[in-house]
Amino acid sequence: MSHFLSPKKILFGKNMLRRLGAELEGRGQKAALITDKNMVKLSGELVETVKNAGYEVKIWDGAEPEPSTAGAIEASKLLKEFKPQLVIGFGGGSVLDTAKAAWVLYENAEIAPDEITSVNVKTKLNPQKKARFMTVPTTSGTGSDVTWAIVLAEAAEHRKVGFANTEIVPDITLLVPEFTAGMPRALTASTGLDVLGHALDGYTARQQTDFSDGLCLQAMKLAFEWLPRACADGDDLTAREKMQNAATIAGLGFGNSNTSLCHALAHTLGATFNIPHGRSVGITLPYSLEYIASNPPIEGAPDPVERLSTAARFAGIKDESDQEATKKLIQKLRDLAKETGEPLSLKEAGITEQQMNDNLDTLVALASKDVNMYSSPCECKDEKLRQLFQDVWAGK
Ligand SMILES: NC(=O)c1ccc[n+]([C@@H]2O[C@H](COP(=O)([O-])OP(=O)(O)OC[C@H]3O[C@@H](n4cnc5c(N)ncnc54)[C@H](O)[C@@H]3O)[C@@H](O)[C@H]2O)c1
Ligand SMILES: [Fe+2]
Repeated sequence: MSHFLSPKKILFGKNMLRRLGAELEGRGQKAALITDKNMVKLSGELVETVKNAGYEVKIWDGAEPEPSTAGAIEASKLLKEFKPQLVIGFGGGSVLDTAKAAWVLYENAEIAPDEITSVNVKTKLNPQKKARFMTVPTTSGTGSDVTWAIVLAEAAEHRKVGFANTEIVPDITLLVPEFTAGMPRALTASTGLDVLGHALDGYTARQQTDFSDGLCLQAMKLAFEWLPRACADGDDLTAREKMQNAATIAGLGFGNSNTSLCHALAHTLGATFNIPHGRSVGITLPYSLEYIASNPPIEGAPDPVERLSTAARFAGIKDESDQEATKKLIQKLRDLAKETGEPLSLKEAGITEQQMNDNLDTLVALASKDVNMYSSPCECKDEKLRQLFQDVWAGK
């Protein structure tokens, strides 16, 4: 990776919603808000602010969890008809990915809507924008609010497809901790573990750079410190703000490095067993880190043990040996998952041995093809990948 991408502006801090008006005034007359049925109920204040800044607002609230290409195509139809100068994605990662894909289709009428997942880094997307794109995350997990990637499920094939292009990075990201305060404890926990997955995948990925490293480390530290508090008391707005910052900072980190083995496994499990993204990541993270810490790195890849022990020390683990520090970091992740009530294995997540055996070949085939696999600092395929999935199921 030889560039660093981020939105032009990330608005964060106290009372940001009140300061949004000045940011939007005089920049257009029409805004489209893309959201889902849960979040539309909480969109009142945001919509009022946009209206007061001089915009007519249309709302599309059809986004689904684990979003599909079909949802994005539906949302893009509204954009093409309404022709807004501002597109807002308001919701969790699922909404944001739907909004991103819809915005790409609006800006690039030449792309056949059902070919949206064929967009890749080489696709020439139109940089002359019809609309500014603003993301307003309501979960603290995916970092999709600042990344140039989209993940959509292709339901027919039971697989999630991730694709990226540098033109997909949003223009503005608005962080309002109050929007995340309504997350139930389990969603807070699983999305929080996703942050750790992004930070540690991003820090150990083959594409890590000096620019992404600091962001990944800081996001990891914030999540270790504040996730327990956000889970213990959802109304603790300081904890909500810190977790929201951690998620977006991790997004900037892994968005400029990559996610890796943990996400290759998690995408596959999510699509096969319908496990929410953050929960799949929480389950696969310790196993994937153990795997990279105990297998030889690919030539030219960062040394996983050197990386993980540095991360461990940044998280406050004091140990002389790199191996021991790495082990303690992985144990710290397991302790956090336990403390926040998240499962430590697929078995604990309710997947039966029969389900696992029936799907093992498919899991191995899908994970081998997942783009995140190419970022892993260690090769993981065939029998080794099969064994890794079996360990993730059994909790070994
Ligand atoms: N594009 C990227 O860079 C990227 C990175 C990581 C993950 N993802 C994708 O993001 C998706 C997961 O997103 P997510 O973990 O944010 O969950 P989500 O968006 O799927 O939301 C889960 C549920 O929580 C609800 N919800 C959202 N905010 C809430 C709030 N404040 N209060 C109460 N309920 C709320 C939603 O309505 C939904 O029903 C996956 O599809 C994953 O693949 C994308
Ligand atoms: Fe993730």
